[in-house]
Amino acid sequence: MTKAVLPAELADTVSTATLLVRGGAFRSSYDETCEALFLSSGFVYDDAAAAETAFAQDGSRYVYSRYRNPTVAMFEERLRLIENAEACRATASGMAAVFAALLCRLRAGQRVVSSRALFGSCHYIVAELLPRWGIETLLIDGRDLGAWEAALAGGAAAAFCESPSNPAMEIIDIAEVARLTHATGGLLIVDNVFATPLLQKPLALGADVVVYSATKHIDGQGRCLGGAILGSEKFIREDLGLFYRHTGPSLSPFNAWLLLKGLETLELRVERQSRTAAAIASFLENHPKINRVLYPGLASHPQCALARRQMASGGSLVSFDVAGGKQGCFRFLNALRLVDISNNLGDSKSLITHPATTTHSRLKPELRAELGIADSMVRLSAGLEAESDLISDLDQALDRV
Ligand SMILES: Cc1ncc(COP(=O)(O)O)c(C=O)c1O
Repeated sequence: MTKAVLPAELADTVSTATLLVRGGAFRSSYDETCEALFLSSGFVYDDAAAAETAFAQDGSRYVYSRYRNPTVAMFEERLRLIENAEACRATASGMAAVFAALLCRLRAGQRVVSSRALFGSCHYIVAELLPRWGIETLLIDGRDLGAWEAALAGGAAAAFCESPSNPAMEIIDIAEVARLTHATGGLLIVDNVFATPLLQKPLALGADVVVYSATKHIDGQGRCLGGAILGSEKFIREDLGLFYRHTGPSLSPFNAWLLLKGLETLELRVERQSRTAAAIASFLENHPKINRVLYPGLASHPQCALARRQMASGGSLVSFDVAGGKQGCFRFLNALRLVDISNNLGDSKSLITHPATTTHSRLKPELRAELGIADSMVRLSAGLEAESDLISDLDQALDRV
């Protein structure tokens, strides 16, 4: 017998802070405080008939951890409550979530319209893999609603975007793109990694499916990979159900346990990291060695009004152009004493990367240029260190440029 840590009647009324700590958790017969780690690949049956029943009544009990696992189920339910989605499935990484969310539904001969401002691996799936499997992909400037309208006019089974985009901070008008996508009968899938489940609610804005790399802010402590797909009960059960079960993108129970612990502190971390990122963005904006700062919370961001409308704050990431191009960036990165050079993001440690030579190095230089990913751009993920220490570190490193 298990007991819900949060009484069911409270799940719809308590605030996000409470859900982050208690949502979705259940206690075993040992009445443990911390969520139990069910590190088991399989489950046993009292008799052969019980096994037969378990397989016949799909989902009514745990049968195999590739399908479902109790620790993973706690993580899925907690994230579902926070996102206010009908259903959630956890995946082994963010890319497994993006891949499964798109491929579980698409068929050869269908079309996908996508914003072209995508994380490198998302771009690979949309621009290279889908066409190889007979799915036509149209990549457009996602900031331009006219471009969405024109591309979707030919019909599309799905639309896909990141907002804010990695690393150029393009903002997509999720409500409007959802409306245009629905008019063609398609589903809008939003990668909400940069905004986190706390700062932007794509489903409430009209999107159909939200995907996460839980590796980022949800773990937020550099420990494990993970991902999640959230959407309607129908999408998760009918479109994703068998695909997930038979292709095996499942999250490990150990990682789910870490991610449950990550969710407990998500709000504290994201609030602090976003405040620090905003302060860093303001500092950089006034620095003579910085040519441009892209931060959705700054009034100078070209889509500031839209960002303010659909995001609770500017988030924890800042991209900026350093004087002196690639050489200037490398000199700056190499001079940092506190901030680590790393392509990950959302971590409690501040991390910085040069997208043109790391996360987006596979893209052709012309495409990088179209996406505004100049050789002079770096992307900073604000961590939990003291804001003043981080600004001092950036300042002394910029002196070396
Ligand atoms: C926007 C975005 N989507 C997806 C991913 C992929 O996540 P993962 O590394 O967990 O597969 C990343 C990783 O950086 C990302 O930035």
